[in-house]
Amino acid sequence: MKTGMTIAVLGATGMVGRRVVDEAGARGHQVLALSRKPASEDPRSPSVTPIAADANDSDALREALAGSASRGAADAVVLTVRTMPVDEEFLAGATRTVLDIAAQLGIRVFVVGGAGALRSPGDRELLVADNPAYVPADIKAVAAAGIAQLRTCQAHAAADCVYLSPPALLEPGERTGRYRRGTDTLLIGADGRSWISAEDLAVAVLDELETPGPDHLITVVHHGEHPPA
Ligand SMILES: NC(=O)c1ccc[n+]([C@@H]2O[C@H](COP(=O)([O-])OP(=O)(O)OC[C@H]3O[C@@H](n4cnc5c(N)ncnc54)[C@H](OP(=O)(O)O)[C@@H]3O)[C@@H](O)[C@H]2O)c1
Repeated sequence: MKTGMTIAVLGATGMVGRRVVDEAGARGHQVLALSRKPASEDPRSPSVTPIAADANDSDALREALAGSASRGAADAVVLTVRTMPVDEEFLAGATRTVLDIAAQLGIRVFVVGGAGALRSPGDRELLVADNPAYVPADIKAVAAAGIAQLRTCQAHAAADCVYLSPPALLEPGERTGRYRRGTDTLLIGADGRSWISAEDLAVAVLDELETPGPDHLITVVHHGEHPPA
């Protein structure tokens, strides 16, 4: 198990990102918390360093990930950005930029992406993005952008990248520390629903970074029986 890592989180102020920052800090890792508008001071932990960086700015990203005289280089970068409205070109471009820099620096990349890239339970030929049971027409473009992001990872031969597809529903909730892990197919929990709290998703992110598995596409689902209220 890897301990005492320096983990960069790009999208650190987001719903997922801030929970990944908290989970990493709580486990004793150093965290570089990157976003365009970082908190000027991060009261959460002295191990968290907020850094202003735009995912479109490759020089700023390289500088942040490479470290400096006062700060070590990142061992891994978690990419968890999202735009409203969805911008597939930006997402694929930013992902490629992070993969390029990480490959040059020998840094592992962990992408928190979308559920649409997964296969449907019960029908392996049907991607979740094309399955109206999970993806209504009004969020199809979001699901398509997630697939473009996964393809960008898969096409980058030089990068060491893991893409985590959440279950169908991902929202703030309780940290139970438990979840079920799979690979390329959407998981359904014991209650018949596909969901996980962002807190438990962050647990899964850190588990995978500390103890890397062999899979480049993974997914998770809640472990318990009770859906969020
Ligand atoms: N069921 C699902 O499949 C599901 C559900 C929810 C989320 N997700 C995925 O989880 C990931 C994270 O989503 P979220 O809900 O946490 O997003 P979010 O709350 O909207 O946060 C987005 C983050 O991205 C940062 N960001 C946006 N544009 C940026 C840029 N140009 N440069 C640097 N940082 C930028 C934002 O910070 P600044 O604005 O300060 O830059 C913010 O920290 C996304 O990939 C999303 O698709 C999947």
